[in-house]
Amino acid sequence: MKQAIFLHFFLGVLACLSGFWVNAEDAYRYFTWEVTYGTISPLGVPQQGILINGLFPGPNVECVTNENIIVNVINKLDEPFLITWNGIQQRKTSWQDGVLGTNCPIPPNSNWTYKFQAKDQIGTYNYFPSTKLHRAAGGFGGFNIAQRSVISIPYPQPDGEFTLLVADWYKTNFKVLQQKLDSGNPLPLPDGLLINGLNQAATFTGEPGKTYKFRVSNVGIATSINFRIQGHVLKLIEVEGAHTLQETYESLDIHVGQSVAVLVTLNGSPKDYFIVASTRFTKPILTATAILRYAGSSIAASQPLPIGPTYQIHWSMKQARTIRLNLTANAARPNPQGSFHYGTIQVARTIILENTQAKINGKLRYAVNSISYEDPDTPLKLADWFNIPGVFDLNTIKDKPTFGPAILGASVIGTTLHDFVEIIFQNNETAIQSWHLDGYSFFVVGYGSGLWTPEFRKRYNLNDAIPRHTVQVYPSGWSAVMVSLDNKGMWNLRSAIWSRNYLGQQLYVRVWNNEKSLFTETDIPPNALFCGKAKPSS
Ligand SMILES: *[C@@H]1O[C@H](CO)[C@@H](O)[C@H](O)[C@H]1NC(C)=O
Ligand SMILES: *[C@@H]1O[C@H](CO)[C@@H](O)[C@H](O)[C@H]1NC(C)=O
Ligand SMILES: *[C@@H]1O[C@H](CO)[C@@H](O)[C@H](O)[C@H]1NC(C)=O
Repeated sequence: MKQAIFLHFFLGVLACLSGFWVNAEDAYRYFTWEVTYGTISPLGVPQQGILINGLFPGPNVECVTNENIIVNVINKLDEPFLITWNGIQQRKTSWQDGVLGTNCPIPPNSNWTYKFQAKDQIGTYNYFPSTKLHRAAGGFGGFNIAQRSVISIPYPQPDGEFTLLVADWYKTNFKVLQQKLDSGNPLPLPDGLLINGLNQAATFTGEPGKTYKFRVSNVGIATSINFRIQGHVLKLIEVEGAHTLQETYESLDIHVGQSVAVLVTLNGSPKDYFIVASTRFTKPILTATAILRYAGSSIAASQPLPIGPTYQIHWSMKQARTIRLNLTANAARPNPQGSFHYGTIQVARTIILENTQAKINGKLRYAVNSISYEDPDTPLKLADWFNIPGVFDLNTIKDKPTFGPAILGASVIGTTLHDFVEIIFQNNETAIQSWHLDGYSFFVVGYGSGLWTPEFRKRYNLNDAIPRHTVQVYPSGWSAVMVSLDNKGMWNLRSAIWSRNYLGQQLYVRVWNNEKSLFTETDIPPNALFCGKAKPSS
């Protein structure tokens, strides 16, 4: 007995020293998710939705950092299906990322079990279907990771918390939307906006005088949103797993794929108040409302709705620059991104990615550095692992924009494990962009207008830039990020705006070294699905 305690203590110390936690102590959470079609009417019109265990939106995952998450996904749709875990870093195991570059899709009427650790992450995330246009029908939900009891958070424990999933929405069936894209047409503006699947009825009740954490994600597919609460201010505490400087805002812009957590103190007179989300940079502006109810209130929320910012790119860019990292706050693990002193690290490589619209075979496509991504039948990760030739070629995409006509291809950027890389997202279009990287948080060091030039490096925030997984790029502008490539694997770098993603605005980053070691990457999971050239011939 004594020995066991000693051993336990000893292992604990070892774990701390080496930076590798012993998993056995971390709890397991099991989920069985049945994915079905069902009729939903979020905008008052019955339509086919994608439900998880009968729910739209799907259930929220609530867990504690480092817990092992086991999700058995049973696909009862008539199409192959995958879920991706937006912002969950899947450390050393891109096998669990749930995108077509890493996983074969789960065929209809079968199931596949994801196994991963929500490792060293605390914060607000979400999940959604990555296949086809499924997410335009639902299948998304919140994914909240709380701190372990030994980790302190840089704000008083809130009296409660709410998860708000804001999504733009089409009344049109997702397969019809997909046919539109397949035939070379862009999608129109969505028909409406939803908060937790409802256009105006979601209600969140709290006690007067108490403080609540609102976790807000933009799980839409097309439009940036602005979020605000009548008569209340929002104290920003967290963005996609990073504790921010706690600035107070009247309203916050949240772009497609992004998440924030804010504290709201119920210090108004006891009644109902409107919670408002409205689209940004669209004509017309779409609005969803929900209700913040003071417990016991019988006074309805009163018009007018609090007004949001009008079409102002500069307002949004200025606000974005105020979202910064709290350097003294605890993180889920020390030095999550390799170092807090990212500003002093030598950049090993600069990659400039320019999005463009293109016509290929007479149809609308979106391209990055003139390559419009198409998923090969064989997931890139399987091709890489089994050395299957002819699936991808590291020379397809270049590090800088090329001005030739766009072509289809399976773009993979080859990088070396632990490289420190600067990525410039150059947007020469008039539409706002939203770029997401799986497996990582990147430091957002700058936003600007026009064409990026090396001169702009002088204006980078090299001190307290926020690390996050999704960054907006303003119309005719650029955003610069820096990332320490410390997570080996095959990682999707994509437009979070789904019609662009579906028509080719994505690529993969292969983070690699030749050393085969479980310390840098896990083995292929025993239940891995095989497809394309990776399918064993019978
Ligand atoms: C499918 O579900 C069953 C349990 O119902 C489970 O035993 C099996 O491992 C799952 N298959 C995969 C590939 O995860
Ligand atoms: C930063 O975090 C510390 C806790 O480590 C907290 O006391 C402080 O208020 C935070 N500062 C700001 C500006 O949010
Ligand atoms: C940006 O677009 C303009 C107009 O289409 C074009 O003339 C210019 O070459 C583009 N610049 C870059 C860097 O793509």
